[in-house]
Amino acid sequence: MPDLQRPVHQRRLLDGPPALSGAETLTSHVARLGQLPPRAASREVIATLEASGLLGRGGASFPVGRKWRTVAERSGGRATVLVNGAEGEPLSAKDRVLMALRPHLVLDGALLAAGAVGAEEIVVYVGAAHTAARRSLERAIAERSATAPSPPAIPTRLVVAPDRYVAGEESAAVHFVTEADARPTVTPPRPFERGIGGRPTLVQNVESLGHAALIARFGADWFRAAGRAETRGTALVTLTGVDRPGVHEIELGTTVAALADLGGKARADTQGVLLGGYFGGWAAIDEAWDLALDPIALKASRRAFGCGVVSFLAADACGVKTTARIMDYMAGQSAAQCGPCVFGLRAIADVTRRIGDGAADTDDLARIERWAGQLAGRGACRHPDGAVGLLASALSVFGEEFVRHASLGRCSRPEFGEKAA
Ligand SMILES: Cc1cc2nc3c(=O)[nH]c(=O)nc-3n(C[C@H](O)[C@H](O)[C@H](O)COP(=O)(O)O)c2cc1C
Ligand code: SF4
Repeated sequence: MPDLQRPVHQRRLLDGPPALSGAETLTSHVARLGQLPPRAASREVIATLEASGLLGRGGASFPVGRKWRTVAERSGGRATVLVNGAEGEPLSAKDRVLMALRPHLVLDGALLAAGAVGAEEIVVYVGAAHTAARRSLERAIAERSATAPSPPAIPTRLVVAPDRYVAGEESAAVHFVTEADARPTVTPPRPFERGIGGRPTLVQNVESLGHAALIARFGADWFRAAGRAETRGTALVTLTGVDRPGVHEIELGTTVAALADLGGKARADTQGVLLGGYFGGWAAIDEAWDLALDPIALKASRRAFGCGVVSFLAADACGVKTTARIMDYMAGQSAAQCGPCVFGLRAIADVTRRIGDGAADTDDLARIERWAGQLAGRGACRHPDGAVGLLASALSVFGEEFVRHASLGRCSRPEFGEKAA
């Protein structure tokens, strides 16, 4: 039975100097955590990662150890590690906070990965908008090149990712680094088969790499000691739609209610929560309140932990208009190369906006319900799948509101506006 009296906040990734001190220096990082163990950056660490149960934190919750093993088996010593710090999700800030404050933890994870999979290059891919994160990583890379590092250095370069939602998708990231074009490519081959420069490429989220760097030092059992439900470890979450928004490190399995409390949001003041960001889905607050933020459990109930966004919708906000605004954003972020994504998402967004504005045509609601079921799996990447997944959750959670908007042209909320998450 987990100890629910333990504080919600955990300090593993974000342990160390206070946020106000900015990026941790190499000297402080090594004084606090020590160097990576000499044998850590080798294939041996893969078994430790597998034993830890660490799941990727970029959105898909894929087992990190299994991914490293797959790349190691085909790398022939010439793979590339792509450190994914694009963080294009508008509601998420956790990756930029980690990169800005703990750049050496991320670089340790990248070095570890490079040694384990057999890579000859590390590419640190950071979103254009994340200036503090970029500066911090640039400085950290320079600090390391000025000292004799352990394990030995691997050529590391920083690439600025375009400020687009899909630029962080793994094939788009590889495409941009190789050909300066951040549109996803048709897969297979997946990056682990044929990535940057045609070489096997490990694409790993920055937070996943930070956890790996700690697991290599403290072990799988240490990692697994945290966790209140099935998935072990801690995670960074971005909390929005509350009085005190921010990035927090929590034990996985912490409830939505505990997060609301952390942000100063009473249950009566909220009607729903968006879990996993724009690639995730809505949950009604009555169902969500006691939900554990646990990737495995959430997947089993057809929800997503995703990139750790927990975004509350105020009780007096309009879920239909909020969803319409998100669909409009998602349509605008299509990489404009697959017909169903380009035209389908735009059509869905336009109809959802009409419904939200109380200006729907007779068949509009039936139309988006039908389209939401038709678009998934029709693009080169999963962008449209994410968008229609969010829409389907909205149709379920705000079903009555959609009907009221579509048939009466009215909203039941006191505020016919966008006091949204
Ligand atoms: C449309 C789209 C956008 C994505 N954006 C990001 C991103 O900004 N950062 C990220 O780490 N992963 C992003 N991903 C997930 C990556 O494709 C990939 O799965 C991830 O970087 C792998 O790292 P992980 O296994 O550590 O999670 C995105 C996926 C999709 C479909
Ligand atoms: S599905 Fe959409 S976002 Fe993905 S590659 Fe095709 S057009 Fe671009």
